Amino acid sequence: MASPQIDVDEIIETLAQIRQRGHSAHTVFRDWVNLMLFALQRRDDPYLEIVDDYRERGDMDYPDGQRSVDLFSKAFGQLQERMAATDADVLGAVYEEYGMSSDAFGQHFTPHSVCETMVEIAGVVDENDTEDRQTVLDPACGSGRMLLTAGRKQPDALFVGQDKDPLCARMSALNCCFLNLDA
Ligand SMILES: C[S@@+](CC[C@H](N)C(=O)[O-])C[C@H]1O[C@@H](n2cnc3c(N)ncnc32)[C@H](O)[C@@H]1O
Repeated sequence: MASPQIDVDEIIETLAQIRQRGHSAHTVFRDWVNLMLFALQRRDDPYLEIVDDYRERGDMDYPDGQRSVDLFSKAFGQLQERMAATDADVLGAVYEEYGMSSDAFGQHFTPHSVCETMVEIAGVVDENDTEDRQTVLDPACGSGRMLLTAGRKQPDALFVGQDKDPLCARMSALNCCFLNLDA
């Protein structure tokens, strides 16, 4: 099956409004990932630390809806919409898009169609075809794309991922959270 077209322009445009306020691409993307993850994990302290950092740089001077925290939240909504529309790893696609213009984003991830094939080769079976609980491991998981593909096929499996790049590990954690996987 061919990969769906993953259009991330809308998300990139929203995050670009924050970048135009003097933040690097890497800082904006990292803070966006951390804010989403800390919000889902209900970790208020590290979440508020990031928000305070933007406030100290004059975020409250922007009108309601245009503050950086509002734009981060808008990009979160757009991410959910694109994921629902494409069934794809939209977060990883945004990361890859950023990678084209910045050396700070060093990774390239497996194309979605290849992930589908890999998941098949690994023997991840459809939800209804097995009574044994499967374990799916990606030992260098990047944005978690392979786990996401396996999770759509077998949501009841146990998913394990690791990556030496903390930003990648967090993207994977988020993607697994979005699908409510046991990961
Ligand atoms: C080409 S990406 C593949 C990511 C993912 N498996 C996929 O299919 O999209 C390779 C990933 O391996 C990670 N990596 C490289 N060396 C590693 C190591 N020694 N331990 C854990 N992760 C590693 C990188 O940070 C990167 O995210």
